[in-house]
Amino acid sequence: MAERVFLITGASSGIGEATARLLAREPDARVILVARREERLRALAASIGPAASWIAADLVDDDAPGRIRAHVEEHHGRLDLLVNNAGAAWRATFADGGYANVRRTMDLNFDAQLRLTEALLPLLRRSAPSAIVNVSSTAGRVSRAGSGAYSASKFALAGWSDALYAEERLHGVHVGLVLPGFVATEGFPAEELVANPRTRWLVSTPERAAEAIRSAGLGRRPERYVPRAYGIVAGLRAVTPWLVRRATAGGAASVLTTRTGADAADAAARAGGSVPR
Ligand SMILES: NC(=O)c1ccc[n+]([C@@H]2O[C@H](COP(=O)([O-])OP(=O)(O)OC[C@H]3O[C@@H](n4cnc5c(N)ncnc54)[C@H](OP(=O)(O)O)[C@@H]3O)[C@@H](O)[C@H]2O)c1
Repeated sequence: MAERVFLITGASSGIGEATARLLAREPDARVILVARREERLRALAASIGPAASWIAADLVDDDAPGRIRAHVEEHHGRLDLLVNNAGAAWRATFADGGYANVRRTMDLNFDAQLRLTEALLPLLRRSAPSAIVNVSSTAGRVSRAGSGAYSASKFALAGWSDALYAEERLHGVHVGLVLPGFVATEGFPAEELVANPRTRWLVSTPERAAEAIRSAGLGRRPERYVPRAYGIVAGLRAVTPWLVRRATAGGAASVLTTRTGADAADAAARAGGSVPR
């Protein structure tokens, strides 16, 4: 059997790393790891073995999609699965974070996914049947205070994915959407929820999210919530929006806007005297 080539963005930690490890166990798999932290990618590739290669890239950079396409063309000449997983959340109300926070969130969580997909779509079509998995979030169905920029980017990704699903099925490129709830990772440690025995059960693992990504990609499922029960919240938002709006606007809901790794990185940059990007 010919090799099957899987490219995973955001592979240096969390859900992307777990996905890379899982997909690397598929027969004839070749995994291409993408993120900024090269030392992490090198260590992960070494632990996976010769089936893995990596590209250190900031996906927001203008030349990132072209560099990644050149690597795939040169080393494999085909692409069977693209997992658009890289992302981050900077918590702020709109009054505090303003357009600047929305813009940087959209740049990474939405625009970067589209730019990379645009660069790789011809290759995916040539390799069909192939697949794209876009990693949105339950926050791409239900918004919370202090998380509007993140929700906007994930709603956008979900909306675009539905259109792309309808367009690309004619070309044999399946588009799957994965919507995780709380998954404890570096970027989203969910410490506030994990610390409390009454809310700990809300938090899932990167391995479960990776399983959902595999099923949305190789299993050609159109949509997967992780854990599946989070789909109920999205369903309630559609059927009884007043109920969900009331619940998310209440003071008790603030615990659901958990602190993120991106916030910690911003705080560290400020403490070190530099300006967060
Ligand atoms: N964990 C959750 O609770 C949760 C819930 C819903 C949705 N999600 C989504 O799941 C995806 C993965 O998140 P995670 O929880 O696994 O968080 P994570 O551990 O922080 O992983 C994020 C990944 O994105 C990469 N990344 C960030 N900025 C990048 C950039 N500019 N260019 C290239 N790569 C970049 C990071 O690598 P480098 O820093 O090395 O670049 C890292 O590998 C995200 O899209 C997130 O929004 C997570």
